[in-house]
Amino acid sequence: MIASILHKSSLSHADIVQLLEANEEDTKVLFAHAAKVKEQYIGKKVYLRGLIEFSNICGKDCYYCGIRKSNQKPKRFNLSDEAILSAARFAYEHNYASLALQSGELQSPAFTKRVEELLYKIQDLSQGTLGVTLSCGEQSRDTYQRWKQAGASRYLLRIEASDQSLYQKLHPNNALHSFSQRIESLHLLKELGYQTGTGVMIGLPFQTTAHLANDLLFMQQLDIDMCGMGPYILHEDTPLFQYASTLLPLQKRLELSLKMVAILRILMKDINIAATTALQAISPTARERAVAIGANVLMPNITPGSYRDDYHLYQNKPKSAAIATQDTEHPQTAFFGNAEIGFGKCGDSPHFFRKHNSSDKIK
Ligand code: 5AD
Repeated sequence: MIASILHKSSLSHADIVQLLEANEEDTKVLFAHAAKVKEQYIGKKVYLRGLIEFSNICGKDCYYCGIRKSNQKPKRFNLSDEAILSAARFAYEHNYASLALQSGELQSPAFTKRVEELLYKIQDLSQGTLGVTLSCGEQSRDTYQRWKQAGASRYLLRIEASDQSLYQKLHPNNALHSFSQRIESLHLLKELGYQTGTGVMIGLPFQTTAHLANDLLFMQQLDIDMCGMGPYILHEDTPLFQYASTLLPLQKRLELSLKMVAILRILMKDINIAATTALQAISPTARERAVAIGANVLMPNITPGSYRDDYHLYQNKPKSAAIATQDTEHPQTAFFGNAEIGFGKCGDSPHFFRKHNSSDKIK
């Protein structure tokens, strides 16, 4: 039964729902198939992005997020340029080869300029070799363009939920949280030549497997290059906390998240898929499991230790880097689960380059 779905050349919405609802035995078959697809198209490597959460100051008020503007509890921080650059230098010197810069969402000329200047400095300190992913929310075309010019080659903007009515249950209904603007931003990023990533939260209140199947088809249709998605985890100081009793148990949210990773790997064979931190919040070995069945990117947190507590998106968010580092002077092989860590390799999305090379040929 499940084998016949897995061998189809394209998966329908109904097929994906069936995979998401697969029982334990069928899930093993799904995972084994996804692992094979990963090995064939991506190999056994896993690539690193040193994650720097450089500010938790946020202008948005998303109902799920612990650093939402209206939450008075978190101590707001904004790392100094020196602290950010020293974390970037750490990633460079330890052969991570890529960085992810993430922050709360702010739109201002000063913020645009600051990130732009940091990007130039990061290129300088790494002789232009560090791959940089930005995750700083919705911005204007001009801002995205300037950041690209300054050295960011990838951008991660999660759609969070690709169904408009679900999206609107998770966000205030106003211009600052417009669903169509978020979609528009994703199109802009693609158009400007970023390796473009998106993702969703899994196990949200009101969310069904039909929604999740559509999320995967949305990613396929948008033809994304990268994905970061993970389980929804409660935060007590947010509006969604009131729905705590309606949620799937944590273990079920974890299993569903792993299924999402496996199915996405089957649907989009050569994109980059992250084993996200939220998985680790449920189980210390969840990221290894995700890597075994489809994920190929890890984002170890290299934010200076004293600030890690304050980037508190959800309960039980892991704080440690929890990843081997490699000294440039003494390179050695290291593994994460069964995957070899791609030290020194920036691990661009193969999908992005395949797409662009084939369109070059068409020209
Ligand atoms: N549970 C899981 N993920 C969350 N994020 C924000 N709040 C939560 C939560 N409560 C995710 C969002 C956002 C990313 C930075 O963190 O998907 O895009």
